[in-house]
Amino acid sequence: HRHLLAIEGLEPPYIAGLLDLAESYALLNRSGKTQRDLLRGRTLINLFFEDSTRTRTSFELAGKRLGADVINMSVATSSVSKGETLLDTAATLNAMNCDLLVVRHGQSGAPALLAQKVSAAVINAGDGTHEHPTQALLDALTIRRRKGRLEGLTVAICGDILHSRVARSNIHLLTAMNARVRVVGPPTLIPAEAARLGVEVFHDMRSGLRDADVVMMLRLQRERMAAGLVPSSREFFRFWGLDAEKLAAAKPDAIVMHPGPMNRGVEIDSAIADDPARSVIGEQVEMGVAVRMAVLDVLSRQLLRNA
Ligand code: CP
Repeated sequence: HRHLLAIEGLEPPYIAGLLDLAESYALLNRSGKTQRDLLRGRTLINLFFEDSTRTRTSFELAGKRLGADVINMSVATSSVSKGETLLDTAATLNAMNCDLLVVRHGQSGAPALLAQKVSAAVINAGDGTHEHPTQALLDALTIRRRKGRLEGLTVAICGDILHSRVARSNIHLLTAMNARVRVVGPPTLIPAEAARLGVEVFHDMRSGLRDADVVMMLRLQRERMAAGLVPSSREFFRFWGLDAEKLAAAKPDAIVMHPGPMNRGVEIDSAIADDPARSVIGEQVEMGVAVRMAVLDVLSRQLLRNA
């Protein structure tokens, strides 16, 4: 594959290969060793039209660890504010011989559109409600490290599924790798397409979490909801927020995940988020760097083959 635009459509062996490579980068990162030659002479541009802490920073770190020249474009202070279109902005960056373009955009499909127009390898860093492929890869790597496998595990993805590109990418990845996926949330926040995606739908947390191996909580994406349809934090937490009582329905060794940013006391209780016996949220962030190094590695080798 020349770009990474989505998990949907990726072959299970390709996903497994990326996870294996990311695992080796995770070990290298923990040992403090770096590999500064692979992307020497390559330019990576982070083009984020939506805010980010984890994804942008970890792509920057991943690119630098592999020796790339990394540029973080500040969209707010760019010529986008003067009316330059997405495609003209991308064409401008492409003319500077950018090799790897990491794009986050509020519109689903924006990175795929860019991929048709530029010679750089395009990586989707989250597009609208569509996909966030590197998040699903880092989640899968974290699960695999903790549980030793993906196949046969029961994974409950909870909360605002409707607006979540993280949920969509995880559903595609986990079902491709033969995990059993449940989505758990209020009917208003479960997309109609859920059944088509091969997941089980639950509207009650205790039923949805019963005997789960993995509990993945999602942020309530208020910014994508129409005014008047935003649930109150207190009501949401009462029914859908993860606390010790609801988590007791899952397996005793179930792990708790959250892609971040977290809204404590809305979708997750602080006591659970900070419980080192259950929460793997810090490890997810750590794996984010390793996964992004693996993706940059694979796509840069593909660039060489296409040259
Ligand atoms: N999980 C995630 O995408 O976080 P950021 O929005 O901080 O990048």
